[in-house]
Amino acid sequence: MRGEPTNRLALFASGNGTNVQRICTYFRENKHIRPEVLFCNRTDAFVLQRAQKLELPSVCINRRQLADPDFMRPLLRQYGITHIVLAGFLALIPAYLTTDFPGRILNIHPALLPKFGGKGMYGEHVHKAVVSAGESKSGITVHLVNEEYDRGRILFQAECEISPEDTPATVAEMIHALEQTHFPPVIERWVEGGFSFQ
Ligand code: GAR
Repeated sequence: MRGEPTNRLALFASGNGTNVQRICTYFRENKHIRPEVLFCNRTDAFVLQRAQKLELPSVCINRRQLADPDFMRPLLRQYGITHIVLAGFLALIPAYLTTDFPGRILNIHPALLPKFGGKGMYGEHVHKAVVSAGESKSGITVHLVNEEYDRGRILFQAECEISPEDTPATVAEMIHALEQTHFPPVIERWVEGGFSFQ
């Protein structure tokens, strides 16, 4: 372990990992907050290759292991995890984790919740739904995690405008840019207790 930061993040991801990469880069020089480990629920996810390059330890977990407190708790303890960040993690977080980490699990969603959230609403499915609905704006939502998909307290939202020419792909690009800009500083503020209700 490199020194002893007070706050240690576990990053949970399932896919490409652009958010994981940005978070790791953002906190590289931070002595108080450190991404400590990646939990990934897909063995073929590109985020695993990114983690290797970033020298971020990674653990592949299947559905059964995620659901099993006797599997997850010792691992989270081993890495001294204080906060969990879902960065494109597409499985439901089990209740024992929300109990163990009250107010300490954060998710990013690629739309303006409460619209376009819930089961099955992830990644490009969200952008397709937004474009099909003829929305004039979309954005990102960073929120606390409870036992229901996309229903926890909203901490932050940022918007982008959508024109009639936009496609799911162009919306995805705008959302991606918003995530890269805003997610790490929001994580930092949350960890430091900087939201008014904290
Ligand atoms: C991100 O756009 C994130 O908001 C979304 O998955 C993408 C992951 O991209 N999350 C959800 O849809 C959660 N419901 P990444 O793997 O490149 O960071």
